[in-house]
Amino acid sequence: MGKVYLVGAGPGDPDLITVKGLKAIEQSDIILYDRLVNKALLDHAPKYARFIYCGKSPNRHSLPQEEINALLVNLAKDGSTITRLKGGDPFIFGRGGEEAEALSAHDVQFEVVPGITSGAAAPAYAGIPVTHRDYSSSVAFVSGVVKKSVDVEEYWKHLALGPETLCIYMGVKKLPEICGLLIRHGRNIDTPVALIHCGTSNTQKTVTGTLGNIVELSKEIRNPAMIVIGEVVRLRDKINWYEETAFQGNIPEAIYQ
Ligand SMILES: C[S@@+](CC[C@H](N)C(=O)[O-])C[C@H]1O[C@@H](n2cnc3c(N)ncnc32)[C@H](O)[C@@H]1O
Repeated sequence: MGKVYLVGAGPGDPDLITVKGLKAIEQSDIILYDRLVNKALLDHAPKYARFIYCGKSPNRHSLPQEEINALLVNLAKDGSTITRLKGGDPFIFGRGGEEAEALSAHDVQFEVVPGITSGAAAPAYAGIPVTHRDYSSSVAFVSGVVKKSVDVEEYWKHLALGPETLCIYMGVKKLPEICGLLIRHGRNIDTPVALIHCGTSNTQKTVTGTLGNIVELSKEIRNPAMIVIGEVVRLRDKINWYEETAFQGNIPEAIYQ
């Protein structure tokens, strides 16, 4: 019986993987990786390692989740050591929980290696601390898409007056709807908003505005992007360290295909 490491690759900059995650890659026979993983990390695998692209992209899963689960179970039962490499953190909007459930159900040994999630890292690289004593003492990691059974109106109503900072994953396409619902349910129309595309990569791009005008201002921003809503966005004016000063262009290109 082999073993599976469910590893968070971090948000883009390949140096943002954990030491433990890197060690897992270095000792694996097989690496199954997703679209939002920096391919430079695959260079750390042994020469004999096999790579399987699971290619998850919005609306287009080249390998259905059930097949990925079955693959992990079967490959581990064949005796292989496997790294299942996922963008950001495997347990934050990464379906790592579903894969761990499948492994557990089949008595396959596994370890979870957390990663730096894009909801924290992309704002950090855009000069936005998601909490700050003067601006926000609460933050929520939120999905912009919810299951059909969820009441969307209620979902955004709770968030409108809930946590001070919202970091919204998978929300770009729904930005007009999200802004409209947050305003309707009580968030100030002048609340600052940032959209960060490909955070921590050498193609990072950030656009800022308010709930009232961000849709108009961010038309050119595409996936993957993090939406950050809250007063903390104002701090970017003072601490935009990466895009202004530290962007050396030395991070491997073609992170996102
Ligand atoms: C399926 S979720 C995966 C999240 C991942 N598990 C994590 O912890 O970051 C994909 C979404 O994460 C966000 N995302 C992932 N990488 C990003 C990056 N480098 N910059 C901005 N947003 C990113 C985008 O909102 C994207 O649509």
